[in-house]
Order: sequence, then C-alpha cells, then structure tokens
Amino acid sequence: MIKMILDLDTGIDDAMALAYAIGTKEAELIGVTGTFGNVYTEVGVQNVLNILNMCNENGIPVFAGATHAMDQNHFDRLEVSARIHGDNGVGQVAIETSPREIETKSAVDFLIESVKKYGKELVIVPTGPLTNLALALKKAPEIKDIMGRVVLMGGALTIPGNVNQYTEANISQDPEAAKYVFESGIDVTMVGLDVTTRSLLTKADTQIWRETGSVAGKTYADMVDYYISQHFEVEGCYLHDPSAAINAVHPEYFTMLPMHMTVITEGEAEGRTIGDPKKLRDPNPNVKVCIGVDSPYLVKELNETLLSLFQT
Ligand code: BDR
Ligand code: CA
Repeated sequence: MIKMILDLDTGIDDAMALAYAIGTKEAELIGVTGTFGNVYTEVGVQNVLNILNMCNENGIPVFAGATHAMDQNHFDRLEVSARIHGDNGVGQVAIETSPREIETKSAVDFLIESVKKYGKELVIVPTGPLTNLALALKKAPEIKDIMGRVVLMGGALTIPGNVNQYTEANISQDPEAAKYVFESGIDVTMVGLDVTTRSLLTKADTQIWRETGSVAGKTYADMVDYYISQHFEVEGCYLHDPSAAINAVHPEYFTMLPMHMTVITEGEAEGRTIGDPKKLRDPNPNVKVCIGVDSPYLVKELNETLLSLFQT
C-alpha cells in the first residue's frame, strides 16, 4: 500500500482531499504538512487538526510549513480565497477545536525525512503553493534521486487560469517554487484545471453526507455547500484538490501527457504553466500533465470513500 503525505492550504477542497486520503483503503496517510494559500498557514494547519479530530484520526501528525512565497515580495491574494473558502478556510463552519498541537518539527524536515525513510513507496500530494516542496528539494537535493511520485494540484495547460487568463491560484501564489519543482527532474504529475474543472460535486451529493447523521457528514456537507455557493458559473463545485488525491491512488482514471514543464515567473503571464522551450528535444520528460479524466469514475470514487468515512 502506498504511503501518502498531503501538503495542504486548508481550504474546503483541501479538506475534501483530506477526507479522501483518510477514507481510502488504498493509501496510508502518514502525515499532513501545511502551507499558506487559501488561508494563513496557522489557520490551515489548525483546520487540519480539527478535521482529523472530528474524524477520530488523532494519530496522523500535522506539521506547519512556509508562511509566504519563496520570493517574500510576491503579492498575496488571501482576500480572494477568503471569499471562496470563507475567512476561516472552511466555509465559516465551526468545527470543534482539536486538543492536539501541531508537531514541533518543520514541514520541510518532515518531507525530507519521510522521503529518506520510504523512498518510492511515498507519494507527496501538494494542493497549495509548492513552497514547502521546493524548500525541501533545495535543502536536501539528494532526495531527488530517491523519491517517488509528486501529484500536485496546480496549473493549467489547455485552458485559461482561474486567477487570470494565464495562471491558476496555487501556482500564482509562488511561481518560483513551482518552476523549481517542475524543473527539478523529479516525477511530477500535474493535476491542473484542465481536469479538475471537468468533475463536479452537487448539493444532491452533500445531502447524502448530511443524512448519515454523523458530525463529520453534516460538517462536510455544510462546508461544501458553502464552496458550491461560491461557484457562480456551474451548479456544483469543481473537484480541484480531491482530483490530485485520487490521482495518487487511481492514476488510471486520467489521460496524461508527458512534458518538460516550466513556469513563467515574470511579466503579464507570471504563473503560467507551459512547456519548457529549452527542453523541447530532450527525451524522457518528467512531468505528466493530466489532460483527460474519467469524471464519472472519479466522482463515484470520491462519493463512496467519503460516505463510508462519514458513516463510521
Ligand atoms: C486551487 O486553489 C485553491 O483555492 C484550491 O484549494 C485549489 O487548491 C484551485 O485553483
Ligand atoms: Ca488547495
């Protein structure tokens, strides 16, 4: 069974990825690292602790990571995320405070130690800015040769971004970190807007969670209903972060295009994920870009896994 680390900026869809990772029988969640993005880092990791406590999963350690982009002057757009995820990151829903504290070890050190311990058995799933992972690769470059897959939610190749026509939110918040990760040569799967916007969850789905009568089922239904209410263009919500967690377990649901990927880090198109022109003729591209998804399978997998978690 694969080992998994989630690197989250929790965030409602991050919380859905977390529920999937707890609920799936096909991966062991060995820890959660937190970053800035949808909310400040300390808010995001507290959300993770609270959710794990609500789901009776107090054995999974939680580590705090970066509080800002690698380039400290990079603008931050927390206000925009606050609209989408609520000021508290979980749709203004109150979740009982966990009695547990975050670990004293840093997220970066936990990532490095876990790669050294588990090697290719470990899949790292970042669903926020890529700062923690880039800092880990910079601090311990030797892990590049031994690590397994990184399955990240971020970017867009065949469609426009969601911050502006060029960039997707996670990449936009730390383009330098994303460029570093994509160009590092490690085995990256990019689960971007090309596929995450093809799968929707609706209020019919959340109502089934609510009807389980469990605290977790009701809380998740309220959170995701808030998230749905912030999607004005569709009847439901996109499945950004859960798609990455599901890809880590079920890559066969996706069509992937091997590429050398890079990120534009300046000018109007800052944050755009694009094929690396310097490597067009190089063999063995290291990034697999998801360009298709079997959405009915993905939605079914998410619904079944979350429902069984909420029923326990
Ligand atoms: C990404 O941005 C965040 O708001 C979501 O949690 C997701 O990771 C989508 O662009
Ligand atoms: Ca996220």
